[in-house]
Amino acid sequence: MQLFDPRNKDGVAYTDGAYMPVGQASIPLLDRGFVRSDATYDVAHVWKGSFFRLDDHIERFFASMHALRMTLPHSHEEIAAILIECVRLSGLRDAYVQMTCTRGVPPPGSRDPRECCNRFYAFATPFVWIANETQRRQGLSMVLSSVTRIPPESLDPRIKNFHWLDLTMGIFEAYDRQATVALLHDGHGNVTEGAGFNVFVVKNGVLASPVRGVFEGMTRRTVSELCVLLNIPCEWRLVTVLEVMNADEIFLTSTAGGVMPVCVLDGRPVGTGKPGPITSLLMAEYWRRQEQGWLGTPVTNYPINATENGTWSS
Ligand SMILES: Cc1ncc(COP(=O)(O)O)c(C=O)c1O
Repeated sequence: MQLFDPRNKDGVAYTDGAYMPVGQASIPLLDRGFVRSDATYDVAHVWKGSFFRLDDHIERFFASMHALRMTLPHSHEEIAAILIECVRLSGLRDAYVQMTCTRGVPPPGSRDPRECCNRFYAFATPFVWIANETQRRQGLSMVLSSVTRIPPESLDPRIKNFHWLDLTMGIFEAYDRQATVALLHDGHGNVTEGAGFNVFVVKNGVLASPVRGVFEGMTRRTVSELCVLLNIPCEWRLVTVLEVMNADEIFLTSTAGGVMPVCVLDGRPVGTGKPGPITSLLMAEYWRRQEQGWLGTPVTNYPINATENGTWSS
């Protein structure tokens, strides 16, 4: 029986073959992941002690690495075991779990990415929410951002990447305009996505989510699968800015929070100004099914939480 180490309470990282408290993990300054954003990553979550779609996340991570010509000496199964161990050691029942592959450090004087040895990092930290509890209940306030999303011709957004400055400037714009989140456009009258989320609109009972210029989110995929199970029509296609302005309901999807209603757009109420019936149903089903083990990988053998049984002395 292993006792919980309280130094792991903020999360656990894995780098260079070792597990450590997340605050102690570091990366080499010259890693191109840091100095050139030359990296890919994926984020899974753990809810009530169980990973959701762990294998799907790892599969997508391998696809992103392949697209960026990166390789690691770890198999799918080895990465799964590392992620599970990060969560287990952290003691977290609800966690945000990131796996990252960076290009690595080039030999001195070289700028040839082929000469780098790709590096793997992972960590588990407490669950991260895009929307807090009140915002999940009452809906988020969103702006249609003036920022154009990096075009897919320049960078394929299906490869999860660190090029976040367009999304981050959108966040600043949202705050400047008394909102919480910003939806970026594609420069051709269509919407794309925002910082860490995909978007859905509902009109006359039919769902639509942008098909182009976006990351193919796992939660977006989950929502479309739920729609099949619940017999709700759902389309992936171009979605115009005008459609968003005239939607009956709008919601966001992300591993960092699941299905999240948007009830104010550019300062005006969306539909009735309250989370709509389809959004509410999908939110409830998303969490209910997970809590029943849907597509789950349980984390087992957590260390004993000594603060609960009183055996930890420090
Ligand atoms: C740009 C972007 N779009 C969408 C998403 C949502 O993807 P997922 O549902 O897999 O979390 C993310 C997640 O981080 C993202 O970074």
